[in-house]
Amino acid sequence: MDNEQAPLGIDPTKAHPSRRYNYWLGGKDNFAADRASAEMVASGFPTVRLAALENRRFLRRAVSYLAAERGIRQFLDIGTGLPSAGNVHEVAQAIDPGARIVYVDNDPIVLVHARALLTSAPEGATAYLEADLRDPDGIMTHPELHATLDMSRPVALMLVAIMHFLPDDEDPYGILARLLEPLPPGSHVVITHATGDHLTPEQYAEAVAANERSGVPFRLRSRDEFARFFTGLELLPPGITSIVEWRPDDAPDARSPVDKVSMYGGVAHIP
Ligand SMILES: C[S@@+](CC[C@H](N)C(=O)[O-])C[C@H]1O[C@@H](n2cnc3c(N)ncnc32)[C@H](O)[C@@H]1O
Repeated sequence: MDNEQAPLGIDPTKAHPSRRYNYWLGGKDNFAADRASAEMVASGFPTVRLAALENRRFLRRAVSYLAAERGIRQFLDIGTGLPSAGNVHEVAQAIDPGARIVYVDNDPIVLVHARALLTSAPEGATAYLEADLRDPDGIMTHPELHATLDMSRPVALMLVAIMHFLPDDEDPYGILARLLEPLPPGSHVVITHATGDHLTPEQYAEAVAANERSGVPFRLRSRDEFARFFTGLELLPPGITSIVEWRPDDAPDARSPVDKVSMYGGVAHIP
């Protein structure tokens, strides 16, 4: 998109994670500043596009697993991103058309495209909230959320490729605790997160430096730091793995290399 086409309320001169991710996935809903920031990240971590694609594939597998094998019919997807192939409602409603989904993002451009997220099967429902992860209580008390999800029944909280945008001083662990608090037993949480664990020290330094220059706050976390998000929850098999190794649906020799993707994933049950 050209800057002149920016919808009202959107600053096209400032890179945003949703539009950068859209660029890596081959989409057209991004501005020059997003593309420049995306290329900056790619200069320090050249396989970032592959990581984005694998993250999207993980999302599909996790939603299928939760719907087909864990009986989950309600999803709260925070950090939805621009509509893409295999949105949560498409995957979940292919298994049960009655599935209900609340999407949340803080990029106003996602709202512009939200109609594509709201094409629910008639038996189910979808809603979209423009809200910020850093205001967890605002999300969890939002009337639209309560109009769409039955909070006495299990919900899958999806935090897919979003927690790494929260630096430590924004209290990512405390924010997760606030999101989990209102969820009934039997709920689940899905998290993916960028890591530098599989990189050489030189690659790690390059990735961190490129992210710093890209204008979007970003925090790689180690396996231990990622595991801390699941404290008190029951991780489901196979536990914490690279996203490419989490319940994969392809043969080992067909999988993307772990270090080229550099993301952890995990799904846990809330007791
Ligand atoms: C990398 S994309 C991931 C999209 C999708 N979850 C996926 O995995 O395919 C991250 C999304 O999180 C959103 N996001 C980042 N920080 C956020 C915040 N503080 N509150 C709400 N959304 C946020 C961005 O706008 C973007 O759409």
